[in-house]
Amino acid sequence: MNNEQPMKEILRKIPSLKGPLPDEDLTTLPTCPHEAFRLWLMNALEAGVREPHAMTLSTVDDNGCPDARVLILKNVDERGWHFAIKANSPKGKQIDANPEVSLTFYWPDLGKQVRLRGPAVVLTPEECASDFLDRPIGSRTAAIASLQSDILEDPEDLNRKLGEAEVFLENNPDHVEKGWQVYAVAPSVVEFWQGATDRNHKRLRYRTEDGESWVATRLWP
Ligand SMILES: Cc1cc2nc3c(=O)[nH]c(=O)nc-3n(C[C@H](O)[C@H](O)[C@H](O)COP(=O)(O)O)c2cc1C
Repeated sequence: MNNEQPMKEILRKIPSLKGPLPDEDLTTLPTCPHEAFRLWLMNALEAGVREPHAMTLSTVDDNGCPDARVLILKNVDERGWHFAIKANSPKGKQIDANPEVSLTFYWPDLGKQVRLRGPAVVLTPEECASDFLDRPIGSRTAAIASLQSDILEDPEDLNRKLGEAEVFLENNPDHVEKGWQVYAVAPSVVEFWQGATDRNHKRLRYRTEDGESWVATRLWP
């Protein structure tokens, strides 16, 4: 590797939206963004896009500064797009203080992006518990052991906590971790973006006032 090569040059040589990309007429998408999303997710799966259910959750902190990280999409239903997190993580606290969030998906092989914005609302305690219990044992152990995003002074602390959590779960297989929460983001805006190699990107934005009827409009690229 040439360490002297300027970063700008390295980046300029990396192709983006290289194609071939689908030439889609976005105005033929379903009238409801939930269904449009389902269609695009199925396209992504068929195209072999890796982890198409990975998305960026953006939040704001107490100072109004944005924060973002990748999460896994757990479901989409009439209540919105779901994700599961620990309530006492930084993102959990940020959502608690300001539930307005955004979610962003990018499927590079197809040149597709989906963005949505709206409030994140916690599902019922029963649904949160059932999500926790459905998780593989390793994920449950990690969720119990982790003081997520706290400073880890010594990796041995984590090993010890994981060991303790493992024993605890063996003795309490039906345990539901307090603060395990599933949220649904009920969007007021959802945008579907189809990149094009000639940069004549197609964009369609859905908006709703009442969460039920949607108005879709094309946007300039
Ligand atoms: C592909 C991928 C999937 C992830 N899925 C989740 C998830 O579903 N829930 C979660 O809490 N963190 C998930 N993470 C970790 C988060 O990105 C993040 O590092 C962690 O939740 C701490 O975030 P916070 O400090 O903003 O609270 C995932 C990371 C990646 C790269």
